[in-house]
Amino acid sequence: MIKLSDWLAARLPMDRLKAFGRSQAAKPLPPNVSWFHTFGSLLLFLLVNQIVTGVLLMVYYRPTTDHAFDSVRYISAKAAFGWLIRGLHSWGSTLMVLLLILHMARTFFMGAFKKPRELTWMLGVLIFGVALTFCFTGYLLPWSQLSYWATTVGTEIAGSIPAAGPFLKKLLLGGEAVSQETLLRFYVMHVVVLPWTIVGLVVLHLALVRTQGLATMQRVGEEAHGGPGWRPFFPDHVLKELTVFSVFLAFLLTLVIAWPPELGEKADPFNTPTGIKPEWYFLPSYQLLKYFPALLGLLASLVPPALLLVWPLLDRTPERRFGKRPVSVSIGIGAIVLAVLMGLLGHFSEREVRLFGARYHVDHYGIPTHLPEAPAK
Ligand code: HEM
Repeated sequence: MIKLSDWLAARLPMDRLKAFGRSQAAKPLPPNVSWFHTFGSLLLFLLVNQIVTGVLLMVYYRPTTDHAFDSVRYISAKAAFGWLIRGLHSWGSTLMVLLLILHMARTFFMGAFKKPRELTWMLGVLIFGVALTFCFTGYLLPWSQLSYWATTVGTEIAGSIPAAGPFLKKLLLGGEAVSQETLLRFYVMHVVVLPWTIVGLVVLHLALVRTQGLATMQRVGEEAHGGPGWRPFFPDHVLKELTVFSVFLAFLLTLVIAWPPELGEKADPFNTPTGIKPEWYFLPSYQLLKYFPALLGLLASLVPPALLLVWPLLDRTPERRFGKRPVSVSIGIGAIVLAVLMGLLGHFSEREVRLFGARYHVDHYGIPTHLPEAPAK
């Protein structure tokens, strides 16, 4: 009987493919490669998880305003392992945004975005934008009250942009309000346009990472490509990745089992619920926009992503070490502190909160006012 390897060898350049695989596995990694360098492979796992669970969800999901909500309810409650698949998809998306932020912070603070890896970073920022668009479009699909009204708020913000706003809003909605047209547009984006875009960008990103090798901590232009302390990708780094992956998978499954994603009520365009807030990753920009009138708001929302994209072209000092880049490290820490602060203000705004036993009302802008205690009955 003919062996499969012989059959393949007669048809494919097997020797060259094997040599390529071996050289990739043996690729030496610099001594500074740490546990933080495992975020990239976790992201790769999450991308595969999103695609596999997303395809499975499509089997029962129906993108119509009449059936979307019921189809998601059916998936969660009745379809075999539907709860698991939906839970993995929903928690997977949240953890993906979190890990994208951590991976970005790791490459930023280790100066890995500097020459010759500027394009790797820029592709990363585009991937981040696509990932957020995934979240925005996916949020509408269950057609719940929350998805309907959060999308209404989101598209209204887009519509308030001077000049291009009304056109953008109409393009997103396919009409004047969130409707069947919107649901279908978001669905097509979510299951066709965005997946192919992100896969293409990630392939390019990884090709660059692999051809350029991981950054050392040496100054730009003085990087070594091997020497004492360098370890092969396989098995050294792969073992580290598998360890982190096992812990991460246990964490993900725990979240899915202990906190399954909720569905709430079916969308009702005639009943506006109170206190609609975007998801945590949109809260900082949601809050920031409250402080700026229209045109400044546009600048406030476009400048930070634009700066993030071209950052490697602005920060061109040769140092990579944390302690030797005080200006760029301070800007990075400042941006994180601002985002967390805006996120917290966004979360607590227009709510009543209790702090150290006292009651406060936090207004639209996040300013708290002390409330007298309600008299005991
Ligand atoms: C799905 C999204 C992504 C995947 C799958 C991914 C994957 C990876 C992997 C596997 C590595 C090598 C190991 C590591 O450093 O962890 C890497 C490196 C890198 N990534 Fe990403 N990444 C993604 C998104 C991003 C984003 C959003 C950014 C920044 C905006 C970014 C910037 C970089 C840079 C600059 C490197 C080079 C690091 C070095 O040489 O030390 N990546 N990425």
